[in-house]
Amino acid sequence: MINKIEKIRQNIAEFRPKTQADIEEFRVRILGRKGELTELFEEFKTVAPEMKRELGKKMNELKNFAQDTINQLKTDFESQEIECERTDMTRPASADGIGSRHPISLVKNEIFDIFKRIGFTLTDGPEIEDDFHVFSALNFPPEHPARDMQDTFFIEKNPDILLRTHTSSLEVRTMERQKPPIRVICPGRVFRNEAISYRAHCIFHQVEGLYIDENVSFADLKQAILYFAKEMFGEQTQIRLRPSYFPFTEPSAEVDVSCNLCGGKGCPVCKQTGWLEIMGAGMTDPNVLEACGIDSKKYTGFAFGMGVERIAMLKYGVKDLRLYFENDLRFLEQFEAAL
Ligand code: PHE
Repeated sequence: MINKIEKIRQNIAEFRPKTQADIEEFRVRILGRKGELTELFEEFKTVAPEMKRELGKKMNELKNFAQDTINQLKTDFESQEIECERTDMTRPASADGIGSRHPISLVKNEIFDIFKRIGFTLTDGPEIEDDFHVFSALNFPPEHPARDMQDTFFIEKNPDILLRTHTSSLEVRTMERQKPPIRVICPGRVFRNEAISYRAHCIFHQVEGLYIDENVSFADLKQAILYFAKEMFGEQTQIRLRPSYFPFTEPSAEVDVSCNLCGGKGCPVCKQTGWLEIMGAGMTDPNVLEACGIDSKKYTGFAFGMGVERIAMLKYGVKDLRLYFENDLRFLEQFEAAL
């Protein structure tokens, strides 16, 4: 009998009902008039008198255990049902947050869209580069300060392998691959050994443009940039080119746009000048064409390179460059509407 008691106890402990009807069925099986316990009590009558005391105690314990367990299961099920009733299944689901694009991506895509409309196609290339593509092919003399450790990150002290400091390396890669006419736009991340502050970072983004064909002139460069500036900052925008120097363009220029905040009158953002610098540009140096296997007698071209963070700062009025890299949701959520 002891074994039977133990077996029933185990069955009760392991019982896992799926519905309320299961519990009732189980209750009848164990505690019902023809149930297992009733049967056991019948058997108890035949037990030797000296065993009765001990067995009787065990059987009462088992009965209490069965009753308690079944009651507990019933109340558990009832409260679950109330929970279900409280949930209004017809209510529309609450929308999941869908996130937003990063302002740098937004501006990068917009720059590409603008140039796409005048026939430029997209290309990219490696962030880890060699000296040839970042410097030598771009006409940087061996003693140029950009090749210094102060400005460039080198990989494992090997002066030939480095993180690209500008996307102009993509000009070289494109010209190696493709013969003129070439009209490409190349976005990418660039790296410079700079102290991080509100206006400088060691990682930032550039977009490079390159156009090589017969008879490409400085007027074409000016026109392409003017078109870009008007599309990006508004129809009233004007541009100004100041003479400058880059080893890979001749002549070279820094390009300013009229300040879209004060309309050119002068404000703190444009430092009272009415102009904001947005890019470097120029006519591709014949030495660069030759280094990339393009006949510089037959072809000419222009190139430009702009900082995406800089354009985004001007477009959205962001004053601290570090915000782009911190992934603070309070900052990023402000660009949701710009999807
Ligand atoms: N690579 C230059 C820079 O990083 C920008 C540039 C690109 C200038 C193309 C001229 C032509 O400052």
